[in-house]
Amino acid sequence: MDKILVTGACGQVGTELTVKLREIYGDQQVIASDIADPKEVLQQGPFEELDVLDMDHLEDLIQDYDVTQVYHLAALLSAKAEQQVDFAWKLNTQGLLNVLNLARDLDLEKVYWPSSIAVFGPDTPVDQTPQVTITNPNTVYGISKLACERWCEYYYRKFDVDVRSLRYPGLIGYKAMPGGGTTDYAVDIFHKALEGEPFECFLEPDTYLPMMYMEDAVKATIDLMHAEGENLSVRDSYNVAAISFSPAEIAAAIQNEIPDFNITYQPDYRQEIADSWPNSIDDSQARQDWNWSPNYDLQAMSKDMLANLRELKEIPS
Ligand code: SER
Repeated sequence: MDKILVTGACGQVGTELTVKLREIYGDQQVIASDIADPKEVLQQGPFEELDVLDMDHLEDLIQDYDVTQVYHLAALLSAKAEQQVDFAWKLNTQGLLNVLNLARDLDLEKVYWPSSIAVFGPDTPVDQTPQVTITNPNTVYGISKLACERWCEYYYRKFDVDVRSLRYPGLIGYKAMPGGGTTDYAVDIFHKALEGEPFECFLEPDTYLPMMYMEDAVKATIDLMHAEGENLSVRDSYNVAAISFSPAEIAAAIQNEIPDFNITYQPDYRQEIADSWPNSIDDSQARQDWNWSPNYDLQAMSKDMLANLRELKEIPS
């Protein structure tokens, strides 16, 4: 019987994945954990307070619950990591190594760990960035993600740990807010638009970044974890892509639905981070190995985001 531990369950991805995993495996089979208090939506099943740097506690939880799979999501995102360099490096790398060591020593069936488009840097080809290319990230977040990708492949090859990973683009969802990322503007913009407020964007209007609707990100994650191991040719982390747009383009998509929405631009230190990342991603290996394909384009995502947020915020259309 599968028993899943999710770390960082209160985060943007963790919230949605925990809910989805509980739908698939049953509420009691999925243990949500986070350093933060449980949110209401996570209270349908077990919740444990956990600092992933506390290896003994992590080990106890895995043993006490007979955990077979870990979705290890606890990390600091790109913008926040630049403000807390030492801690970000420690949390992002040691957290994963703790999970990988326990997966090896306790013979866990599978591990999921998210990487990011942040593994790419200013020397990377920016358009349709290939699966294997120059990386050279220049943010602490990107450096930690790249190091961890190498560890994932190492643990797979040397210790037979079945760890699987995706390089998420910027993720856009309505169930939970992101915290401390460079792509967060693409979530905040919807909230402001619906509240009838202007939005001040911290990136330039023409800054293209790879993005994805959360429904697609959750689908990609579950599909990868359900794929036959022998089909997976990439054991560091898969490129996955869905949409690529600039702040000006997402503002225009929102204006299709809310014509008097207004955006202004005030770039800050996050512009430099965004400029070091690709415009778009080539995900053909993921398509080939496990049939990846996204369902949402910019217009479909914007429509769905606005409809769901309207309902959540009880704003009449
Ligand atoms: N969305 C993330 C960030 O902006 C990228 O992985 O930090």
